[in-house]
Amino acid sequence: MRSHYCGELSASQIDQTVTLCGWVHRRRDHGGVIFIDLRDREGLAQIVCDPDREAMFKLAETLRNEFCLRVTGRVRQRPEGTGNANMASGEIEILCLELELLNPSVTPPFQLDDEHLSETTRLTHRVLDLRRPFMQRNLMLRYKVAMAVRRYLDGHGFIDIETPMLTRSTPEGARDYLVPSRVHPGSFFALPQSPQLFKQLLMVAGFDRYYQITKCFRDEDLRADRQPEFTQIDCETSFLSEQDIRDLFETMIREVFHEIMAVDLPNPFPVMAYSQAMARFGSDKPDLRVNLELTELTDLMADVDFKVFSEPARLANGRVAALCIPGGAQLSRGEIDSYTEFVKIYGARGLAWIKVNERAKGRDGLQSPIVKNLHEACLEAVLARTGANDGDLIFFGADKAKVVNDALGALRVRIGQSEFGRANGLFTAGWRPLWVVDFPMFEFDEENRRFTAVHHPFTAPKPGHEDRMEQDPGSCLAQAYDMVLNGWELGGGSVRIHQEAVQSKVFRALNIGAEEAQEKFGFLLDALRYGAPPHGGLAFGLDRLVTLMTGADSIRDVIAFPKTQRAQCLLTQAPSPADDRQLKELSLRLREAPKIAT
Ligand code: AMO
Ligand code: AMP
Repeated sequence: MRSHYCGELSASQIDQTVTLCGWVHRRRDHGGVIFIDLRDREGLAQIVCDPDREAMFKLAETLRNEFCLRVTGRVRQRPEGTGNANMASGEIEILCLELELLNPSVTPPFQLDDEHLSETTRLTHRVLDLRRPFMQRNLMLRYKVAMAVRRYLDGHGFIDIETPMLTRSTPEGARDYLVPSRVHPGSFFALPQSPQLFKQLLMVAGFDRYYQITKCFRDEDLRADRQPEFTQIDCETSFLSEQDIRDLFETMIREVFHEIMAVDLPNPFPVMAYSQAMARFGSDKPDLRVNLELTELTDLMADVDFKVFSEPARLANGRVAALCIPGGAQLSRGEIDSYTEFVKIYGARGLAWIKVNERAKGRDGLQSPIVKNLHEACLEAVLARTGANDGDLIFFGADKAKVVNDALGALRVRIGQSEFGRANGLFTAGWRPLWVVDFPMFEFDEENRRFTAVHHPFTAPKPGHEDRMEQDPGSCLAQAYDMVLNGWELGGGSVRIHQEAVQSKVFRALNIGAEEAQEKFGFLLDALRYGAPPHGGLAFGLDRLVTLMTGADSIRDVIAFPKTQRAQCLLTQAPSPADDRQLKELSLRLREAPKIAT
């Protein structure tokens, strides 16, 4: 049917006769000559139809965008001055000798090269959207990344083992997608949030090194970097230390970037404790391209006559911190107001600020709604610690530490990545990976007044921290690690608990009683009793990795058939109501009539 891909052709085929198959990307009539840009997955080729061949020319006149064609022609140099540097095959064109219409197309609902399509349009007509060259490139890159990962893991003795999709709940912190069982009325499978427990069982079973590139399902609030079903590069090893595991997978990511992107990531990646990341960046996934850091002020504010600052400063879990923006004094009131609105998303109640106009003038050189509330020593210390110079702006956050970290952490990234930030040296483009380590084992859930696992409950405590689990859970650190790249959590994992007694202790710290633990995780506790090896691993988000590599705005641009922000598939209209017969078979009755998705 075909001798070459369109995008493959170059000057080296000049004078050869080639046969191409593809779609009409564009057709142009140029006074008697018709030009067709023919597109296939490798790119475009320019086909020239001239009127000498009458039947062929007549057919060419009827062609419209997205018609599917087969073309046989002779490759020739484009005439002087008509080359196209934007096309891989831009030096040459194909003089059409034979033209066959394989299938016409109705008029597409949009121009394929329209750059301003709404996501709704794109996802509703996903097949045509996927024909667009950038989507073809994204999915091709995704495939190449997956292949590079497989080659690396295969070369290091990992074997791919499939784990079930119909299973029990695996706690990763999201809601489960449930699947009703017909055979066991009233019982449900859960789709896996990750293969976590199965991969641990495979280590107990002695497979030593496991990986899988597999779907995970999480019913959670969606954002640009989240999908309800997404793909993990999921790995587990036995008999390796935390450092060994991190080294192995850091090398994998470095090699994949080198091979696919010709990018050399730093060697080694920097490593930062969770507590440091929170103190300096207000985030456990700091974007290190942003050249801004938080300044700690909590200790300075306990005695000021300004409740907005003094109250959080006296709280056990309170924090007062500053974010000094070099050159920020040029920001307008309107811009400051919009940042104030922005931090409210994260629960902040306000965003106090000081513009440093002329430091030498003392108070008179400062412009601010709050300086009147700060005594001399405090003000001096704030200026000294933030290192503020004339022309800078200092933002303040004061609240529970979580609110301050979330708000100032997000503001830091927002300003750093803004046009202002880029123009003022607050952002350095590049690839900035890091490991965040020494996560806490537990965090206190204020709403439910109990501790929950920060990672998942199978994570081992740091050596020496085991006793803290019962005495002071809040101070117990975990052997957990996240790999972060440019502000995205790319992957995460941990050394696991391999002793049943320790696992039971963690369940106790989480207020999971012995009976509940046995009921939910008995199969794991039992397995741990049969000489389970020390083991650990991690999982990368393949969608996120590829999104970063392609520079796409959202992970939806690297997934062939993604869900919308409202967890729907616009192409197939899923989810959709089940008919009565199906419900009956599944022994289900609805509490409310189905709400038809809009
Ligand atoms: P975790 O929950 O951190 O760990 O997930 C691992 C990685 O998967 C990606 N990811 C997602 N990507 C897209 N959409 C989502 N909704 C989504 N949720 C997570 C992220 C994340 O870093 N079982 C553990 C791993 C382990 O301990 O080995 C786990 O699932 O890139
Ligand atoms: P007020 O005294 O409430 O008018 O606040 C004075 C300034 O402090 C305003 O600029 C507010 O935006 C700011 N502010 C109020 N609450 C907070 C807070 N929790 N953290 C930081 N700034 C705040």
